Amino acid sequence: MTAAAFQLISRNQLDPRLIAQVYEEVVQVEKELKIQVGSTVEVVERVGRLTLDAGGKRLRPAFVALAAKSIGVPFIESRLVLLGACMEMIHMATLVHDDVIDNSATRRGRPTASAEFGNTAAILSGDVLLAKAMALLARDGDLEVIRTVSEAVVEMAEGEVRELEVRGDFDLDEASHIDILRRKTASFIQACCEIGALTAGATPAERTALRSYGYHVGIAFQIVDDILDYRGDKSKTGKVIGTDFRDGQATLPLIYLRPTLSEAESKIARKRFGNAAGDDEIRMISDWMDSRGAYAKSEAAADAHVLAAKEALTALPTSVSRDLLETVGDFVLQRNG
Ligand code: FPP
Ligand code: MG
Repeated sequence: MTAAAFQLISRNQLDPRLIAQVYEEVVQVEKELKIQVGSTVEVVERVGRLTLDAGGKRLRPAFVALAAKSIGVPFIESRLVLLGACMEMIHMATLVHDDVIDNSATRRGRPTASAEFGNTAAILSGDVLLAKAMALLARDGDLEVIRTVSEAVVEMAEGEVRELEVRGDFDLDEASHIDILRRKTASFIQACCEIGALTAGATPAERTALRSYGYHVGIAFQIVDDILDYRGDKSKTGKVIGTDFRDGQATLPLIYLRPTLSEAESKIARKRFGNAAGDDEIRMISDWMDSRGAYAKSEAAADAHVLAAKEALTALPTSVSRDLLETVGDFVLQRNG
């Protein structure tokens, strides 16, 4: 997470010196990432730099660090830098691949790697990032960490395949949709928290608590992402509005809108879903989502997951890091980009 983002979420409620401790790790992770994206193959390096320089909230390294610190016992802090960089690199690789899958031209307000270098170069360079992340895991050398991360990567990739399978399904049910969110987003955030816990030698109960926190925050994160896909401010999200609808990907706002549509409205929506919807049609669907309470219901679902995440944290000793994990949960709900 960037220093600015942390300042924003903490809203001066926390001791700045303690927040500064997290900055330090993030600064070190950033240094490691700069080293890691270097390559003797020019395109690989350019894809890595483009993805890194586009910014991002660096939430995953922050989850690793805060989860470890929340256990409250001494541990080897340099592992957080290695593992934080590893998780951010996997995340970068997945975004590069995801932008190929979603045919996205921009992310974080910049051209995606696939738009800049073509799909093949983007996919292969993403593979390099993933492989380098695996090498970092090997350098850390903890088998349980390796197992946890590998399982999450499997879930993520399977989640993307499931998403592909349901593409074009206007009537996708909520449970199947949430299962996709679990796989493609929550499993990885869950793993970040879990490996943080493992680094600090957490008890099984603490590990479970942080897993649960990561799961719920991850689901909330993706629900908010999916709301922003419809109603976000492009200048803040850096993404084209309505991509999910244009791609025929049913997400929570649409799932909650469906039962409120008249037969005629439903016919219009179905016709345009995944089928070259224009900006005006996206705006019309978004207005319906607003006026029929589909956004409000989606937001309530995200709120409930953050509440469950905070509830899971109560199994941990009170600490500044635990407080920070709570505020990260709030940040996930408040973010607009
Ligand atoms: C963003 O979803 C994408 C993910 C959360 C997961 C991407 C995972 C893969 C491509 C498979 C695994 C790949 C590797 C390299 C292991 P989104 O499209 O809903 O969000 P967006 O709005 O940010 O694009
Ligand atoms: Mg995408």
